Amino acid sequence: MMSEEEAIQLIKSTSKYAHALLVSAIMAEMAKELKEDIWLWKIVGLLHDLDYDEVKGDMQKHGIVTAEKLKERLPEKAVYAIKAHDYRTGVKPKSKLDKALIATDSAVVIIEKIMKAKKELTVKTFQAEITKASKTTSWHKSNIARCVEFGLSLNKFLQLCINSAKESEV
Ligand SMILES: [Fe+2]
Ligand SMILES: [Fe+2]
Repeated sequence: MMSEEEAIQLIKSTSKYAHALLVSAIMAEMAKELKEDIWLWKIVGLLHDLDYDEVKGDMQKHGIVTAEKLKERLPEKAVYAIKAHDYRTGVKPKSKLDKALIATDSAVVIIEKIMKAKKELTVKTFQAEITKASKTTSWHKSNIARCVEFGLSLNKFLQLCINSAKESEV
C-alpha cells in the first residue's frame, strides 16, 4: 500500500501537481461526507493524472499507463477509477469512487479557469463557467452532473468544491 506522502512525492514533479492536490482535497471532503474510505479517495485524487505528461496527448493511454505502473501498490478499486477517469480510454465508470473522480476532475478544471481569469469563485461564477465550457468541451457539464449518482445534489457538490478550493488556497 502507498502512503499519502509517497503519492505526493510521485506527482510533485509533474505539471499536474497543483491540480492533483485540489482534486484530492475535494475527494477527501466527499469521502467524509459520504462515509467512504478517505485514504482511498484521497490517493486516487492525487495519482489520477500521474501519466499526464508521459502520454503526451495520447489520451487513450491516459490513466492506463499509471494503472500499469501502480497495480501492485494500490487496491484494485483505485486502479480502476484511475483507468476510468478519462472517457477516451473507453473504460466505463462503475463505482461511486469512479464517478466522484470524474465529476471532481471536471469541477477542478472549471475552477482552474475561474482562478486563471481572476474571477471570484462562487456558485454563480462556477455555473456560468460550466455553461461556457460546455460549448467547447461538452463532457465537463455531464461529468459534473454525475454528482447525483454518488449522492450529492449539484448545489451541494459545487459548494463543497468551492469550500475545498478556498481552504487549499491559504
Ligand atoms: Fe486526467
Ligand atoms: Fe485531472
